[in-house]
Parts: sequence; C-alpha cells; structure tokens
Amino acid sequence: MPSRCHLLNDPPRLPMIFPSVLGCDMTRILDECRSAFDAGVDALHIDIMDGHFVPNLTMGPRIVQLLREHFPDAYLDVHLMLDHPEKFVTPFADAGANNITYHIEPTVGRDKFNEHELLRMIHGCGCQAGICINPHTPPQSIEHLLIEVDLVLVMSVHPGFGGQKFMPEVLDSARWLSQRKPDHVRLQMDGGINPDTTALARDAGVDVIVAGTAFFRSDDRAKMCATLRGE
Ligand code: DX5
Ligand code: ZN
Repeated sequence: MPSRCHLLNDPPRLPMIFPSVLGCDMTRILDECRSAFDAGVDALHIDIMDGHFVPNLTMGPRIVQLLREHFPDAYLDVHLMLDHPEKFVTPFADAGANNITYHIEPTVGRDKFNEHELLRMIHGCGCQAGICINPHTPPQSIEHLLIEVDLVLVMSVHPGFGGQKFMPEVLDSARWLSQRKPDHVRLQMDGGINPDTTALARDAGVDVIVAGTAFFRSDDRAKMCATLRGE
C-alpha cells in the first residue's frame, strides 16, 4: 500500500490509478477499499458533494476519518464539489486527507476565500492541493494557479453522479493544461473512464486516472487497474 504523503509530486510510477470510492458497494466500504489496494491502486479518490454545487449528496469527514483509521498509510485524495469549500478544508484535513481538491467555479474572484486563499488554507493544513474545472469551464481560468497547485483535475462528466458517459470534448482542455503545467504537477481526469476511454485521457497528458464504475464493477480489479494504466 502506498505510504507517500507527497505522492502527487513524487509518484512511484505514472499513470496512477485512483478508484472513486463512490463506485464501490458502500455497505462494504472497508472491504471494497482493501480489495482496491490489493488490486494495485495508488490511492483512494473520495467524492464529497453538497447538494448545491452539484445535485447530489455523498459523504462527510467521518468517512475519511474511518478510512484513515483502517488504512493508516493510504493516500486519501478528497474531491470537494462544494459551493463553500472553505468550510470543510480543516475538517477533511483533520480527518486524514492527503490531498484536497476544490472547484474553481464557485471560488474564482471572490472577495473572501478566493481561489488563492483556499490553496494557502489547504497547504497550511499540511495537505497537497488540487484545483478542478468542470467540462465546460475554460482551462485558461486556472492558468494563474498552475504554479501553486499539486494537482489539476479536469472533469470528464458533469459532476454529481458516477456511471456517466465520458465527454471527449474535455480532451482539448487536458492537452492545453498538460502543455503548461510544471512537471511536478499531476493532471487528473475524473468521470466515465473505462477501458475504452482511458487511452484518450492518457494520450491527452493525463497521468492520474480516476475510475469508479469501471473499477469497482470489474470482476478482476487487478486486471482492470492494469488496463486503465495502459499495461
Ligand atoms: C463525479 C465524481 C467521480 C465519479 C467517477 O461527480 O467526481 O469521481 O464518481 O465515477 P465513474 O468512473 O463511474 O464516472
Ligand atoms: Zn471525483
């Protein structure tokens, strides 16, 4: 199991595979996550939704705390889909998150807790920090943050639900960001990634693949992990 607290800047190999916990059998979340690590994944991706920025609700800090207790060395990647991420940075950091990613859309240009302050807040909690854009948000909107972040996340579905269809139009955004980000910054893609779409993402420069449905619904998760990596 990976135990690197700076996994994003110092990856053991690329691409990395982060299964989205949202796609697992939630009644058996601990067994499911154990199975994911046994299959060779690099980290867990944990989707947090507020029912406002996205039309769904999922988990809170307690689930991250539970995962941290059971997987003390795991890298926990928390994806905040929230209108007010500033309210939850500290609770998720305290719960054991290693990386916290938030969306640019509700935060850019705000007077208080703008996009820069949020990054400082996340780093100040000792976590790595990611910035995310929705499928139709121009990549140029986060260009000014590329030197401050550890990870850039390009959504390849409209966030809110697992099991949606991959949106190939986001590949241009991924390529644009891939050409401009510093080498130590990871480029992540999330939504609809499966054996048919993983190569499109990787060819566009994506080096961290998030997969929920494809991974957890697979009969052979080790093989699925390798396939998503392109092996
Ligand atoms: C979407 C979430 C994703 C999603 C991935 O809002 O951020 O992490 O659950 O699931 P799949 O791989 O099923 O699209
Ligand atoms: Zn996600």
